Amino acid sequence: MMTGREFPNWEALYQEKPVETMPWFNPSLDADVEEALLNLELRNGSVLDLGTGPGTQAFALAQRGFQVMATDLSETAIRQAAAKANQKGLEISFQQDDILNSRLEKSFDLILDRGCFHVLPPQSRGTYVQTVANLLKPKYYLLLKCFSHLETGEQGPYRFTPEEIQQIFTERFYLRSAKQTVYHGTLDPLPKALLCILEKQS
Ligand SMILES: C[S@@+](CC[C@H](N)C(=O)[O-])C[C@H]1O[C@@H](n2cnc3c(N)ncnc32)[C@H](O)[C@@H]1O
Repeated sequence: MMTGREFPNWEALYQEKPVETMPWFNPSLDADVEEALLNLELRNGSVLDLGTGPGTQAFALAQRGFQVMATDLSETAIRQAAAKANQKGLEISFQQDDILNSRLEKSFDLILDRGCFHVLPPQSRGTYVQTVANLLKPKYYLLLKCFSHLETGEQGPYRFTPEEIQQIFTERFYLRSAKQTVYHGTLDPLPKALLCILEKQS
């Protein structure tokens, strides 16, 4: 069984390839994310789109009336997404930031992580949990989309069961739900994914 996984140099990737060709590119808000927002009755408020990459989810959230901040490790991803937001007339605060060494100081009603957590090294998960919890208001939500253990094959992001998510986040979060879904993007078939709603403990 494979233990460590290899990921691209994110900055080089965004410099070299158009975002539309990337496996995670979805021009629209994922339907399951939209459904989760409805279930949580979140219609506005402050959102952090963590690891925003192409920025499409941030654009869609801003269009729905959320106050959006979007961050990514890659400076180029941020620059390109900010230019697109500008063309669309969207007010989004973009910032280069490494979630494992974050300089963010705000607190949010919602953090959307669509595909960042599952590419981080396993030994950094504790830092991730503490950082993300500290960036959320008490009782508010982390919406986490990651590959599911039902996705077979050795390539790509780490996979998780709902029980593993519960265990990793237990110190700061309560797992409200974990839904089996797919990771919308450019791959065929779409990879199997989990959409987790994690509520920060008070
Ligand atoms: C699979 S892509 C998903 C991009 C975007 N969320 C989307 O759904 O289109 C993962 C993203 O996480 C970013 N990333 C990786 N490590 C990061 C870190 N330590 N801090 C912030 N972003 C990171 C990458 O640059 C990349 O844009």
